[in-house]
Amino acid sequence: MTKPRLYSGMQPSADSLHIGNYIGALMQWRDLQESYDAFFSVVDLHALTQPNDPAELREKTRRTAAQYIAAGIEPSKSTLYVQSHVPAHAELAWILSTITGFGEAGRMTQFKDKSQRYGSEATSVGLFTYPVLMAADILLYQTDIVPVGDDQKQHVELTRDLAERFNSRYGQTFRVPTPVIQRDTARIFDLQNPTSKMSKSAESDAGILWLLDDPGKTRKKIMRAVTDSEGSVRYDTENKPGVSNLLVIYAALTGRQVGSIEDEYAGRGYGDFKKGLAEVVVEEFAPVRERALTLLADPAELDRVLAVNAGKADEVADRTLADVYDRVGL
Ligand code: ADP
Ligand code: NA
Repeated sequence: MTKPRLYSGMQPSADSLHIGNYIGALMQWRDLQESYDAFFSVVDLHALTQPNDPAELREKTRRTAAQYIAAGIEPSKSTLYVQSHVPAHAELAWILSTITGFGEAGRMTQFKDKSQRYGSEATSVGLFTYPVLMAADILLYQTDIVPVGDDQKQHVELTRDLAERFNSRYGQTFRVPTPVIQRDTARIFDLQNPTSKMSKSAESDAGILWLLDDPGKTRKKIMRAVTDSEGSVRYDTENKPGVSNLLVIYAALTGRQVGSIEDEYAGRGYGDFKKGLAEVVVEEFAPVRERALTLLADPAELDRVLAVNAGKADEVADRTLADVYDRVGL
């Protein structure tokens, strides 16, 4: 029996991924790759919708791919590739843009947010059509499920609408994908600002645990995490967002229940708790970091692996694209 197909990806928008990406995406991908025929992409074409230095973008793309592998995405098991290496993404995006309503695309809340932040001069047409490219990413692979964060749900809904529209206009061509939204407990907040989501684009990285930080830095950031004056290790997102966030990280990395961690640290101070958490995080990150650095030390070998995987992706994508061209009369 063939496994159902899964597609997901991340932008190469920083030198290192952070613990939010790790818990919210990579750990789940690693598990899912066992039961799905998984395609994991580093979406560099999407990253062009933000200003980028070319050499830095190329480096971030390699580093992101290395971290996927280091975190346990196996390139011999999953198809792990760079989006721009597979030309069909851009080609299908064009076709899909011709069946996407201007008003429909204009309703995407991520575009509204980002364009407001960038201002109208810095807002490109590419930022506007970003969700159409994302639809192409997903539909090219006849994807069954798309694990995404909450913020991407609307884009997957658009993807479904476009698939259904194309199918009804031109005949059955695309599988209609289902979004799998990450659990709330997988949302990680900034250690210095525990009511806002940990994000690569935060102004300061004092509250961000980067996968590639050295252990000393990771420990320091955890010891300095914002908590509260109550002094008890208790999960209460309303009144104790800092401690709750640390508990969520602890639980996610150890597979333990939050309650059992609360019990372990009952009657002990935040210092002990943070030390315990720092050990957990360092133990988890150290081997990932080592593997990533080893992979990055041999760029030719990494590029070879990515080229082989792009070839695998190409084969599937080209079949879908050929069918699409045929149906629309190209
Ligand atoms: P991109 O723009 O590449 O999608 P993001 O950093 O927004 O980059 O997200 C990459 C992946 O990591 C997504 O699956 C997202 O849901 C997850 N992710 C990002 N930040 C967090 C966070 N703070 N907590 C949990 N998951 C996160
Ligand atoms: Na995102």
